[in-house]
Amino acid sequence: MKITLSVIKADIGSIGGHIRPSDKVKQTVANYIRDNSKGLLLDSYISSTGDDIAILMSHQRGVDDPGIHELAWKSFMAGTEVAKDQGLYGAGQDLLKDAFSGNVRGMGPASCEMEFEERPNEPFLFFAADKTDPGAYNLPMYLAFADPMHCPGLLLSAKIGKGFIFTIMDVNYTKGDRVIELKAPEQLYDLACLLRDNERFVVESVRSRASDEIAAVVSTSRLHNIAGKYTGKDDPVALVRAQGNFPATGEILSPYRIGHYVAGTMRGSHNGPLMPVKLNSTVSFFDGPPVVTCAAFCVHKGKFTEPVDAFDHPFWDWVRNRTAEKAAEIRQQGFSGPAMLPYSELEYGGVAEKMKELDERFIVREAKPAKTHKKQAA
Ligand code: 13P
Ligand code: 13P
Ligand code: MG
Ligand code: MG
Repeated sequence: MKITLSVIKADIGSIGGHIRPSDKVKQTVANYIRDNSKGLLLDSYISSTGDDIAILMSHQRGVDDPGIHELAWKSFMAGTEVAKDQGLYGAGQDLLKDAFSGNVRGMGPASCEMEFEERPNEPFLFFAADKTDPGAYNLPMYLAFADPMHCPGLLLSAKIGKGFIFTIMDVNYTKGDRVIELKAPEQLYDLACLLRDNERFVVESVRSRASDEIAAVVSTSRLHNIAGKYTGKDDPVALVRAQGNFPATGEILSPYRIGHYVAGTMRGSHNGPLMPVKLNSTVSFFDGPPVVTCAAFCVHKGKFTEPVDAFDHPFWDWVRNRTAEKAAEIRQQGFSGPAMLPYSELEYGGVAEKMKELDERFIVREAKPAKTHKKQAA
């Protein structure tokens, strides 16, 4: 049976700053989905990561279905009303447009979707990150699908060893979807060349070369490019199918032990290490560190099992401690150099305004006439 998995997520308001949505707001979103999903959804799962609420849905209407997108949009609208009533911070933060126009893309919420023929057993992972942007998944996707140091399946399984096709999006291009397909392993260096630039080139999807099946999808929206100004970080979601023709769950999780530095954290304007945390975690230190959660599921005939919290294990406590050290380490240098994002990525206008003002106060020293040396008497 062919099914579609859709994740649509938004920040519609949170308690105590950008920490966590209220239970009531989350419940409102969940109730709206429950009461209005008849004939649309096979199943759904509502969760939060930091201040973002994600709706995971299974259905048979394919990707980009207006009915599915409208359901999510309206549930966020209902949640926003409650967030306003409760006086939550940033109520409706990610709902950037007033009227729904058929698809949440370009309207603020992040989304990723995949349609596939369900396998008899269908394990998949749902990732949600807060206080960072979609490029945060570049390195983990590259390592899980293209590097035998993390994915020994590339050596041990003939099917996985056929490699994967990455679709990369240029997220700076705003007139449409500007994408390129690259094959691993032959084009690994081309892939790395693009993926090193997390702010511009983002993994949109990965497909198996053994079966041409979809393996992974990532939300690629950048609020910065939609609103033209800072309205919050993009806080991306991703879906990854596991086992069989795809990497094993442990291979997909392996890169998250690095705690690699990503853009985000305080005011969306710094670099911080990506910390794998338990489901429904909040953020704290320096509006971060950037966090990622992972709920592992099996889906059968469109019905989800209960989620298993993939980062709830003693091993990840060790990773979290190391990542906390990395966070503290880079914070030592405050605004200096790589601790703060480059000028082009700064999410607040304050620095730009200050630069303009300072620019006018610069002076160029007048070149002094060169001193002529008196000829020394012979
Ligand atoms: P199974 O042989 O139990 O499927 O496990 C293989 C695997 O993916 C372990 O990483
Ligand atoms: P969010 O994008 O998660 O709302 O965070 C915004 C922010 O500026 C945190 O400092
Ligand atoms: Mg927020
Ligand atoms: Mg957020």
